[in-house]
Amino acid sequence: MNNTKACIFDAYGTLFDVNAACRELSLDVGDKWQDLANLWRLRQLEYTWLRNSMKEYVDFWEITSSALDYAMEVLNIENKKLKKQLLELYLKLEAYPEVKKVLGKLKDKKYKTGILSNGSIKMLDSAVKNAKIENLLDEVISVEECKIYKPSSDVYDLVEKKTDIKKDNVTFFSSNAWDMHAAANYGFKTIWVNRFDGTLERLPGKPSAIVKSLNNIDELI
Ligand code: 2OP
Repeated sequence: MNNTKACIFDAYGTLFDVNAACRELSLDVGDKWQDLANLWRLRQLEYTWLRNSMKEYVDFWEITSSALDYAMEVLNIENKKLKKQLLELYLKLEAYPEVKKVLGKLKDKKYKTGILSNGSIKMLDSAVKNAKIENLLDEVISVEECKIYKPSSDVYDLVEKKTDIKKDNVTFFSSNAWDMHAAANYGFKTIWVNRFDGTLERLPGKPSAIVKSLNNIDELI
């Protein structure tokens, strides 16, 4: 029985292509652009987890900038102009090709749709507007509301707080396995959007389904 009332999406890596910034500037970054993209993303997430434990919250824009600083130093890419360009591109990451169509299908089927993300309000508003999907989302929820990052349950609590929809009636989508495990463990029905051929982590929480993209997920709910 389908008791889903709301479809909630992680943002970076799920709706928006986190590698797009470095790929777009790959000519300027040079042959290290994939290493830079990977190290930047890794530290960006690790800093959220470490700052949660240290109880030292700063917003995702500051974390994203610090993580880029670190990655550029490690890879000996000394270029202030490039750093500024990469950060600016992070404000307008491409949405994956199927996103707009899938959100439209979900809205046609009367589901509530939303984003739940580590991204700051400024970052998410910018990315949503750039992708022209603002009219396909009922909610854009940032961890700025609770000043703690995923996988804290305080973050997943925000969905009911903002939508009044209980966790049993939420289907959550993430490409980030750790986020998917945490959301499943929290009590959402979760679908892992395994875009990067990842492996299930040895963590609590199991996905209801594993897909390669968001294509036709409206038929999976
Ligand atoms: C997000 O919260 C985990 O970065 C991912 O959008």
